[in-house]
Parts: sequence; structure tokens; C-alpha cells
Amino acid sequence: MGIRITGIGSYAPDRILTNQDLEKMVETSDDWITTRTGIKERRIAKDDETTSDMGTNAARKAMEMAGVAPDEIDLIVFATITADTRLPSAACHTQRKLNIRSSAACFDFQAACSGTVYGIEIVTAMMKCSRSYKKAILIGCERLSSVTDWTDRNSCVLFGDGAASFVFEKTKEPGDTLLSSIIKADGAESEILCIPGGGTQTPITPENYDKKLQFLKMEGNKVFKLAVNAMVNTSNEAIDLARLKSSDINWLIPHQANMRIINAIGTRLGISNDRVITNLSKYGNTSAASIGIALDEAVRSGKVKKGDLLLLTAFGGGMTWGSSILRW
Ligand code: UT7
Repeated sequence: MGIRITGIGSYAPDRILTNQDLEKMVETSDDWITTRTGIKERRIAKDDETTSDMGTNAARKAMEMAGVAPDEIDLIVFATITADTRLPSAACHTQRKLNIRSSAACFDFQAACSGTVYGIEIVTAMMKCSRSYKKAILIGCERLSSVTDWTDRNSCVLFGDGAASFVFEKTKEPGDTLLSSIIKADGAESEILCIPGGGTQTPITPENYDKKLQFLKMEGNKVFKLAVNAMVNTSNEAIDLARLKSSDINWLIPHQANMRIINAIGTRLGISNDRVITNLSKYGNTSAASIGIALDEAVRSGKVKKGDLLLLTAFGGGMTWGSSILRW
């Protein structure tokens, strides 16, 4: 028996917000954003477009690639920090929109930007341990525009909206898509990347709303330093665990947050730029969706081929991070 990823899909809203647009909104420049981050533009959801709308669009494409019908899906796992509602989950909203049968298990989890790396391990482990799940959907999707302070130049230039989805199937033949996975977290550093308000700790009162505690806050510099070391370390661990060398990896697909971070990881792992997949310039940082959107584009363009060895790595709020090796 094996657990294989048989389909992938992604979705990004039509509305494009360019660096030039941002120059009119806050004191910034295309030159600053491009040289410090590598981002040129990002997508922004329509006002009435919810997280599960975007996730549903991505999942439809993944199911189409896999040739799987809605009534075959028995598990939906949804990684997001920007669910449509606090209750029910974005997974349940998606189940309804996809007409997936009522016996499917559906839940959200959040590991911020590490959502896809966490989710691939979660879904693979659940399918291995339980007879209940034969076909599953993982969705990583964010509507970060709804938690962005559009007057804060430190953060508003970085983020975008989007979704990605994977279909997992239990196969008779042995061999999993996931060869190894390392996921980690350190709650001690949580305040350097967080949304302080809106939960039970700091509910949104008129006073907290005026203090803008409902928006995402990041101490970028501190996150930057931790991110490089963490992703390099777990990547080396995942490579060792799969009994591989970094020279065996066909493609590095890192979380798309900052080109300087991506270049530093590639250099430290000895993976040259021509083996690194990036699309940060078009979408910005889409958190839990970023790796899936990049991988989907690489698969559909023919860059990533069946049998290729992939290294995924991510770092995000929590702090959470991790790396996984996939045989595509
Ligand atoms: O996805 C989860 C993980 N997140 C990440 O991995 C993000 C990690 N961090 C980063 O990508 C980078 O730290 C940033 C892109 C966020 C910032 O780049 P930086 O090189 O670390 O810049 P900085 O925060 O040290 O700021 C340098 C200067 C400051 O001015 P002073 O104090 O030196 O005068 C900022 O006020 O740049 C200023 N600045 C800007 N200037 C123009 C900050 N944002 C902007 C802006 N436009 N948008």
C-alpha cells in the first residue's frame, strides 16, 4: 500500500496589486520592494471572495488532474490562518461547495506559512494509520489581504492571496510520494510574527480595533535570521532521513517569502538557482498556499516531471517550520 499525491491545483484571484500601486498607498518604492524582497506584484481577492471560495477553485483543479470525483473524497484538511468564519471550518465550507459526501472528515489546522509542509505529513500519516481514508484533499489557502494593515509599509508590500490543493490517494502498489518529513515549532518566539487581536487572549474591542490589533505584525529582520537557519537545518535532516544527498534533489521549492532568504537557503544547501522554483515576483507571500502554487505551476509547465525528487521547505508564524522530500 502507498499514499500518493495524484493531483495538484492552484488558484489566484484576478485582481493584481503592483508595486507601483503600493507607491500610491504608502511611502515605498518599486525599487525598495524589488531589491529587498523580489516581489513585483501580488493578487488580492474580490471583496466577496472567501478563503473557501479560493480553496474550492484550487481543489477542483487538483481533483480534475487526479480524475477523482467529489463523492470519492473522504477527508478534507485545510491549512489557513484566514478561515471564512471561526465556526464552521473552511474545510466544511469547502465540502459544501464541492458537494463532497457528508461522511467525509473535514477540519482546519494552522501552521501559518508552514501549512503545506505540515499538511503533507498530516494527511499522509492519517491515511496510513486509518482504513477510513482512501482519497483525501489537502488545501493551503490564505486571504492575507483581510489581515493586512494597508497603512503599514513594513508588512503591506509583502503579502498576497491565493490557494493550492493536493489530492492524495491510497494505492495498492507500495511507495509513498512523501519520502521524509521534519516539522518543528518554537512558541517562545511567537510575538515576532503574529496577529495579536481577535482571539480569546485579546478580543477585538473598539479600543483594540483602534490599536489595529486585528492585523498581522512582523519583525521582519528577526524572522529573516531565524528562517534561513531553520529551513536549512530541517532540509538537511529531511535529506538524511530519506537517505539522499542534496545533489540528488531535482527541485527545491521553498516557501515564497523573500528572494534573499530563498537564495541563502539554496547556497547553504548547495542547490544552484536553476534547481530552485520561485514565483514570488508574481504572487508575494501567500503563506500556506505559496509552496503549492509554485509546485502546481512547475508541474503544469512540465518543469517538474514524474519521478523527480523535490525538497519543500517553509518557515512561518508560531514559529513553525519544516522540510519534506517528495518523489513526484
Ligand atoms: O512568511 C513567513 C516568514 N516571513 C518571512 O520570512 C519574512 C522575513 N523578513 C523579510 O523578508 C525582510 O526582513 C523584510 C522584507 C520584511 C524587510 O527587509 P529588511 O532588509 O529586513 O529591512 P528592515 O526591516 O531592516 O528595514 C530596513 C529599512 C527601515 O528603515 P530604517 O529604519 O533603516 O530607516 C524600514 O523602515 O527599510 C524601511 N522599510 C521600507 N522602506 C521602503 C521597511 N519597509 C519598507 C518599504 N518601503 N515597504
